Amino acid sequence: MSFRTHSPVDYVEDVSPGSGALPPRARYASSDAASLSLNGSWRFRLSATADAEDDAFAEPGYDAGDWAEVSVPGHWVLQGHGSPIYTNHLYPFPVDPPRVPTENPTGDHLRVFDLPSDWPSDSGAVLRFDGVESCARVWLNGTDIGEFKGSRLPHEFAVGHLLKPAGNVLAVRVHQWSAGSYLEDQDQWWLPGIFRDVTLLHRPAGGVLDFFVHASYDHTTGEGTLKVDSDVDGRVTVPALDIDVATGESVTVPVEPWTAETPTLYDGVLATEGERVPLRIGFRTVVLEDGLIKVNGRPVLFKGVNRHEWHPEKGRALDLETMREDVLLMKRHNINAVRTSHYPPHPAFLDLCDEYGLWVVDECDLETHGFVEQAWRDNPVDDDRWTPALLDRAARMVERDKNHPSVVIWSLGNEAGTGRGLTAMAEWIHGRDSSRLVHYEGDINCRDTDVYSRMYAGHAEVEQIGRRLDGGTHKRRELPFILCEYGHAMGNGPGGIADYQRLFESYDRLQGGFIWEWIDHGIKHPELGYAYGGDFGEELHDGNFVCDGLLFPDREPSPGLVEYKKVIEPVRIEGDGDGGSVRIRNAHDFADLSALAFEWSFQVDGETVESGSLSVPVLAAGESAEVKLPEPPEVRRGETHWTVRAVLASDTAWGAKGHQVAWGQFPVTGRVPVPAAAGTAPVLADGRITLGPGTFDARTGALTAVGGVDVTGLRLDVWRATTDNDDGAEWQTDLRYGFMWRKLGLHRMRHRLDAVELGDGALTVQTRVAPAAWEVGLATVYRWSSDGERLRLAVSVTPEGDWTVPLPRLGIRFGLSGAADPVTWFGGGPGEAYPDTRSASRLGRWESTVDALQTPYVRPQENGARADVRWAEIGGLRVEGDPEFFFTARRWTTEQLDAARHRTDLTPGDTVWVNLDHGQHGIGSQSCGPGPLPQYFLRAEPAEFSFLFSEVS
Ligand code: GAL
Repeated sequence: MSFRTHSPVDYVEDVSPGSGALPPRARYASSDAASLSLNGSWRFRLSATADAEDDAFAEPGYDAGDWAEVSVPGHWVLQGHGSPIYTNHLYPFPVDPPRVPTENPTGDHLRVFDLPSDWPSDSGAVLRFDGVESCARVWLNGTDIGEFKGSRLPHEFAVGHLLKPAGNVLAVRVHQWSAGSYLEDQDQWWLPGIFRDVTLLHRPAGGVLDFFVHASYDHTTGEGTLKVDSDVDGRVTVPALDIDVATGESVTVPVEPWTAETPTLYDGVLATEGERVPLRIGFRTVVLEDGLIKVNGRPVLFKGVNRHEWHPEKGRALDLETMREDVLLMKRHNINAVRTSHYPPHPAFLDLCDEYGLWVVDECDLETHGFVEQAWRDNPVDDDRWTPALLDRAARMVERDKNHPSVVIWSLGNEAGTGRGLTAMAEWIHGRDSSRLVHYEGDINCRDTDVYSRMYAGHAEVEQIGRRLDGGTHKRRELPFILCEYGHAMGNGPGGIADYQRLFESYDRLQGGFIWEWIDHGIKHPELGYAYGGDFGEELHDGNFVCDGLLFPDREPSPGLVEYKKVIEPVRIEGDGDGGSVRIRNAHDFADLSALAFEWSFQVDGETVESGSLSVPVLAAGESAEVKLPEPPEVRRGETHWTVRAVLASDTAWGAKGHQVAWGQFPVTGRVPVPAAAGTAPVLADGRITLGPGTFDARTGALTAVGGVDVTGLRLDVWRATTDNDDGAEWQTDLRYGFMWRKLGLHRMRHRLDAVELGDGALTVQTRVAPAAWEVGLATVYRWSSDGERLRLAVSVTPEGDWTVPLPRLGIRFGLSGAADPVTWFGGGPGEAYPDTRSASRLGRWESTVDALQTPYVRPQENGARADVRWAEIGGLRVEGDPEFFFTARRWTTEQLDAARHRTDLTPGDTVWVNLDHGQHGIGSQSCGPGPLPQYFLRAEPAEFSFLFSEVS
């Protein structure tokens, strides 16, 4: 006998997309019809299960006076009710589709509203939800109007007949888990709530229903063709183009085309009998031709990012200003494309992409990644019962977003395996909109898609694909290639993106890629700074894998973004300095160089001595020119460079005049050799050795001071607090060096003292540096000499035993007591750089503080090294390197950095720890992708390097 028969919440576990909602239609930002935002403070009650409460709260007159309040849009778990959960691909509930747990946090939301006094008296009205996670049931004035799933998709309900002038009661019951959750297994926080706008729209008689703006561009004639199909007949006017045609009629006129680089939009109006809707029309044509994605006749190169919606306090409830900030930051960092991973964004984001110019891959709200754990058994995308839900999702995306010129590719979803449901979606989309391409990375043979797409493929494989030697189905071999995800920006990194870009620019078939991902999803936390997975006591979680963006959670650019900006510059500036000229290549796909001004400057030892403007011809996209530089200034001594910069010539929509877009730097005369510093003999007295400005402990040979600057703990150092990319993802099959280094004990090296030898011209300290338990070691000799004023340390390192792993770093470290600020150096800057993340590091004179040298990765790890440093001054000490070195300084030890889980675990001590590194191992992208390329390995090999110490005068 069973007691659980029909339940009033059966819809929660129903595979259908819902009931009661209107068919999907085009979204438009405004019209002359009235609308009423229902955003704001709502009454809120949380229940532990879906059916804990009946629907009495939906009845007019219900007293919710003792309920809590939440902000709509918002997620209740970020407003003090329950907690967020972070999993990458594991479902945080038993997998038994479409069933969900009995524990199903359910938020009843209540809002009472009056119609404005000027609300039209005719009865048409629609209630629109732009996003609710994951399933909602809606009542207006006590009438059940339907329920829906599809969290990041719009749902509209006809409600005119239910409205009253005052005291309307809108009740929304939101369930955290539903059958829809099986389709929304994206790698992100699970955040229930009404997280996008709720709006009441007046629908006048004869008002606009659905419409489709077809605006193509013929690059051979320079003409655009406009046709607006509309469910309700009307007229379309575009004053700037003298267009005034009926809907359904096409018209061809000369136009400026829309591209991401030149986002020309024409204002128009769609007027039906009852409504006027403003249009922003961009003319452009997307085709697959010659195996390439072409827009307006030309292949495009995507320099993209994957963007999740994120705000450290509001989660996925983004306001317009945050969306605009994202777009401006992208434009200012030379990014030209966004994949809306992994769901359609707030619609206003696409308006901004149209306006500022970004290519968009609009991705459907679909991921079933957790089924991989059961060999994709029961995957909803291969089960016909779910196909209506999949088609509903595809339609809600396409219909909503089809009038955006920025959207050039539709993506079926992410990591959902393969199946008939996906094929059905692709067929439907192709049938509905033949003017765009279809993408889905999981379709490895491109059965249903128009572009071959992969994620995290290594450089060698990408090159094979570029050379069309990758094999695959015949269809796939004819298609262009993109990396829908690469360059995993978790923690320090991603490394190796310049090497990818070189491939993209070498092979036509490679049409670029999208860095994973735009922003760290850290949640602002009172004790932890930014919280990540596990910080809310989740029973399953994936730690800081959720913090893998080019922006920190507060939208400060990370060094990865600065690197990416340099790597994808739309102007290439190259020169050899000597030749007296510079080669400028316009690497845009469409725009000429008229928006840019060029400047040269000349540096001596990193300081600019002269500068001026450089006249560069207005090169068309793809063209290059050799441009003469002025006569270099007369310089008698020092290392000299040219720096040439391309900046915005005047204010644009996204950047101010003078904003730097691209730069190039090239040497003229090389570095002046570092003096040998010899001639003074070491002197032993009172248990101390003195050698020029150096003082040493006679027993250990340890340096204790340089002049008046105390020095502690100077010794060889090979350890770095492993980065997320060093540690690698657990599923990686290649060697994960972070793990191997720790196993080998590189974080617990012992330093055996073998000899302290006083010679005529030097103090020599012989040591062997090795980890307990293993035979491998580094025979390390410190040889000190001096010319009386300066102290020279030559370090020689000889590996012993069978070293099968590279070293994390190789150099020396030491402590300085007290405040060490300011820090100045001549070398790479202003930001951090590692062997495979050094494109943006520019030679110059830089000044900073120890605190400002730190890069605030959400999970602390190795960071902040400055590359190619010739000399640095810190805490009264000057160090010159021979050869150049990586320079790092911090107010905690590497061991403390390594142990910290959050930034708030790091407390500054009295000592500033300085690392001077002869080498660093590359960074790579192994937290999800490939490790560093072999050329960026720091192999355990014999090495010699030296430093010259002196007191700052
Ligand atoms: C991909 C996935 C993304 C994200 C990324 C790793 O496999 O599509 O959503 O999980 O890996 O951060």
